[in-house]
Amino acid sequence: MATFVELSTKAKMLVFDLGTWKSPPNKVKEAMKVAIDAEYHHIDCAYVYQNENEVGEAIQEKIQEKVVKWEDLFIDKLIQYCYYKGIIVTAYSPLGSPDRPWAKPEDPSLLEDPKIKEIAARHKKSSAQVHIRFHIQRNGMAIPKSVTPECIVENFQVFNFQMND
Ligand SMILES: NC(=O)c1ccc[n+]([C@@H]2O[C@H](COP(=O)([O-])OP(=O)(O)OC[C@H]3O[C@@H](n4cnc5c(N)ncnc54)[C@H](OP(=O)(O)O)[C@@H]3O)[C@@H](O)[C@H]2O)c1
Repeated sequence: MATFVELSTKAKMLVFDLGTWKSPPNKVKEAMKVAIDAEYHHIDCAYVYQNENEVGEAIQEKIQEKVVKWEDLFIDKLIQYCYYKGIIVTAYSPLGSPDRPWAKPEDPSLLEDPKIKEIAARHKKSSAQVHIRFHIQRNGMAIPKSVTPECIVENFQVFNFQMND
């Protein structure tokens, strides 16, 4: 029998989570649907996993099929839940950790992502600032690493713009 923990709101959260990092976009949607059918209600997903659209599509379809209700799922909204409970979620590697030792040249780059660059250009900001601001606007925190003085200063300049993209 599945084990749940009771949160202070009395909501019951399954102590089991479906990870989706590295799940290829062409497989993650079916995997998600199988998981929801199997009564997984706690799903880890993130923008950087580059499969959020497919994860979202699977969830939408299962909600429409009435297999699960939105309010019974613990997804990203966990961040907002934490915030209202006075817990701030910190995003490590918010710039995609381009200097990670295991990076491969063909790996996608968060800082070079065309959509992010487009948003950055619109706001006259850098890609790094857009990524950092994204977390702040979601009531989260970010801890970008830098040893470059210009970048350290630049990364702090994220309190004078608002993204609605
Ligand atoms: N608790 C955990 O499990 C955990 C796990 C991973 C990371 N962390 C923490 O999170 C921190 C951040 O994550 P991370 O180091 O993996 O990666 P990150 O902050 O996503 O990226 C760091 C890389 O981005 C570059 N960078 C920084 N600012 C930039 C800017 N404005 N423009 C262009 N490039 C920029 C840095 O270059 P330069 O340094 O050359 O400027 C570095 O190569 C870590 O250092 C660590 O403290 C914690």
